[in-house]
Parts: sequence; C-alpha cells; structure tokens
Amino acid sequence: MEQISDYLCRYKNYNFVVGSTTAEYIDSLQSFGICDDDVLLVTYPKSGTIWTQQIITSIYELDGGVSVSYANNLERMPWLEYTEGRSDYSLRPSPRLFASHLTPPLMPPGLKEKGKVIYVMRNPKDNIVSYYHFSCVWADLQTPKSFEDFLEQYLSGNVGASCWFDHIREWHAKRDQYNILFLTYEDMILDLKTAVTKICHFLGKDLSEDAIDQIVEKSTFKNMKKDPKANYEFVATERLKGDFMRKGKVGDWKNTFTMAQSERFDQILQERMGDMDLKFIWDTESQQL
Ligand code: A3P
Repeated sequence: MEQISDYLCRYKNYNFVVGSTTAEYIDSLQSFGICDDDVLLVTYPKSGTIWTQQIITSIYELDGGVSVSYANNLERMPWLEYTEGRSDYSLRPSPRLFASHLTPPLMPPGLKEKGKVIYVMRNPKDNIVSYYHFSCVWADLQTPKSFEDFLEQYLSGNVGASCWFDHIREWHAKRDQYNILFLTYEDMILDLKTAVTKICHFLGKDLSEDAIDQIVEKSTFKNMKKDPKANYEFVATERLKGDFMRKGKVGDWKNTFTMAQSERFDQILQERMGDMDLKFIWDTESQQL
C-alpha cells in the first residue's frame, strides 16, 4: 500500500485508513468464497451504515435464523475489508452478514453469482457534514482544519473510501451484475416502515406486521441511541471522542454549508453526476425520529 498521508494509504485506486487492513488481505478477497445466504451492506462512509446494520441484524434476530448470540451489531455484521478483530470468516455460522465500504472491483467476484447486496446512499451534502463531524471525533482520521478544508479534501477524493462521486457511480453502473437493493437514507427517514418492509422482502424474510413494527421501533434514532448493541458506544473513548449517533437528520447541511459552498457543490454535482438518473432529497419537513 502506498502511504499518501499520515492517515491514508492507497491501494488499487482506493484510500484505506492507515492500519485498517493490508494489501495481502484486500488481494485475498478476490478468492473469498461467497455463500448463497451472505448479505453485504455496502455504503460510502456516513451514509447510514450502522442504521441499516441495526435493521438487517434485527430482521435476522426476529426471523430466528441464528442461535449464536453476539455482543453487538459489529460482531454480528463485521467489516469485510478490515483486518482488526477479524476471525476466519469461512468458519462463521450462516447466514453471514458483512458491512463494507469497498467499490465493485475490490469486492469478492463470487458476489456476482451468489449472496445479496444492500447499497445505501445519502444526499452528499448531509454526507459531507456527517463525515466532517466524524473526522473530528474518530482518532484514526485526520482532524479537519475547517469545514472548508474538509470539503476540498472530500471533493478531491482525499478521504477514507476515496471519492463519493466514484463510489455512487461505480455501484450504480455495476448494479445489474449483482443481486442488489438500492436504498437511500432519506427514504428511510421519510418512511422507515416501508424501508424495513422492502429490506425484508429483498432478504426473503416473511415477517409478521408485528415483527416489522418491532424492527422499526428498535431502529428509530431515539431508540438506537439508547441501544448498547447498536449505538457504537462500545468503541473505546480514546478512539471515538464523540457520537456515532450524532443528529440523524436530513437537511442538517444547511447549518454548515455557506450559500457559496452549496452553489459550488451543486455545480460540481451537476458536472459529475448530471448524466445519471439520480434524485436527491435535500430537506424534509416530516422527520420521524
Ligand atoms: P449524522 O452525523 O448526520 O447524525 P454511518 O453509520 O454510515 O457512519 O452513518 C452515520 C450517520 O447515520 C450519522 O449521521 C448518524 O446519526 C446516522 N444514523 C445512525 N442511526 C440512525 C437512525 N436510527 N436514524 C437516523 N440516522 C441515523
């Protein structure tokens, strides 16, 4: 891996956080065996990963498929690409659930034949603000000098998981090659029950109305923030000096972006993604928190 800063290293066109993984391990994913019932939750950082992780793990818990009990959602759904705390995943009981920020070329090729992918996307302005705040509290990331400075780093893809624009474009372009469900953070905010129901159907889980309501209840921002298995307060405070569960809103970017930054971003978004059929929800009145 080529170290490109004190905090980031680059391998196969993708920025990893220093120390999070190795080139050998990333290479080994090219022969990682995928099982029919594997589920991969894929996101760009700060797009709603731990939220969707709570939904998916709750679905499997209520479905009663697994007898093993896990200390928290991270243990139930570990990161595919990080070496820290990794066990031999071939020995993991089925169904295996993984989270990942990787792009399609780095994914196990077997995922095109087997398994399911759930991809969650968030409007990029809220994504940037969330990533900015997270970079201020997560010790493994460079503390931004300012929001303006972070915005520049983000726009040039000089952050962990590289460029948001490329991540969305690559997954969107390759969507026909995978068994994939695309969701947005904003749709989940606007109608969590519909999102949970969609995920259940995609995973082939025929849960009762009551079970779906329980999952929705467990996955609201308010309840997740109190849930020690889901709120990531189990991460050591030397590493995480703030909250994973920060605000959980759509439109919070308006409190941070200046008008000029917002207009510039709109223009760049148009230049880079204008040809894609994507619609973003930038604000919403009816947040169900
Ligand atoms: P904010 O920083 O805007 O609050 P990720 O899990 O990909 O790192 O994303 C973290 C973001 O998802 C944070 O956004 C966090 O608050 C938000 N989030 C986590 N759980 C949520 C929930 N139940 N409802 C709404 N947002 C949630």
